[in-house]
Amino acid sequence: MNDPLVYLNGKLSPLSEAMIPVMDRGFIFGDGIYEVIPVYGRKMFRSDQHLARLFRSLAAISIPNPHNKEAWLALITQVMAAHPADDQMVYLQITRGVAQRSHAFPAKMVPTVFIMSNPIALTSDAVRAKGVKCVSMEDQRWLHCDIKSISLLGNVLAAQNAAEHDAVESIQFRDGFLTEASASNVWIIKDGVLTGPPKDHLILEGIRYGLIEELCAAHQIPLQARRISKDEVFGADEVLLSSATKEVLAVVQIDQQTIGKGIPGPIYHQLYAAYQEAKAAC
Ligand SMILES: Cc1ncc(COP(=O)(O)O)c(C=O)c1O
Repeated sequence: MNDPLVYLNGKLSPLSEAMIPVMDRGFIFGDGIYEVIPVYGRKMFRSDQHLARLFRSLAAISIPNPHNKEAWLALITQVMAAHPADDQMVYLQITRGVAQRSHAFPAKMVPTVFIMSNPIALTSDAVRAKGVKCVSMEDQRWLHCDIKSISLLGNVLAAQNAAEHDAVESIQFRDGFLTEASASNVWIIKDGVLTGPPKDHLILEGIRYGLIEELCAAHQIPLQARRISKDEVFGADEVLLSSATKEVLAVVQIDQQTIGKGIPGPIYHQLYAAYQEAKAAC
């Protein structure tokens, strides 16, 4: 659909007609947060967790939450219902609103609220079956990667670095330890144990992070969270990415180095199957 209906500050309109003033602090300062909720068969997947993260992001940067949970769900449902695709990605963005340009918060804040939806773009079966190539790079982002901020310059540059190397993602390291990729969490598997970096300020806690914790518990896959060195990543049996669109995806090459046997491994297959079951039950 070329011009889907979107929600902006209280009204639905075609995307091409939705306009914000140039003095919006989202445009001027990147002063806002966002959220992305996958929709399968017109049902939101893990909406409670996504809304909880949205509320945490708003609170973390002191933007007053303009709606309660029920009102948010009603607004999202309106945008979702207006979209022709059954499987969608709902995008929500809230900024600190319009004000004279001055860095500190304005006295009166009226947040700008924008919601749109797009057909979900999942990894093709052909790519999934082979696994994907990534590149490594130093993490150049700020120290609040736990906030789902619209100030995404570091992530944009990391994604561009991947694109320029014909790779799916840039896997980032800070001081020699794994953080995450430009738009996904990263996991390693060694001797049957799945390990992710700690859920701290250096990574965004993906909604898939929590889902993977649940799937590991349900399927008796040992799981731990701790700092992971670069050598451990390159020496892993399997490396996985997780995100709303990648779901779980096997990494078979980083830079010039093959990971494990160079094909998606057994834990990947187990988690991907479990993920599809969770989707079907949503
Ligand atoms: C930087 C970053 N880390 C991790 C994730 C994974 O989060 P989720 O599982 O909620 O999609 C994303 C998703 O876009 C991301 O942008």
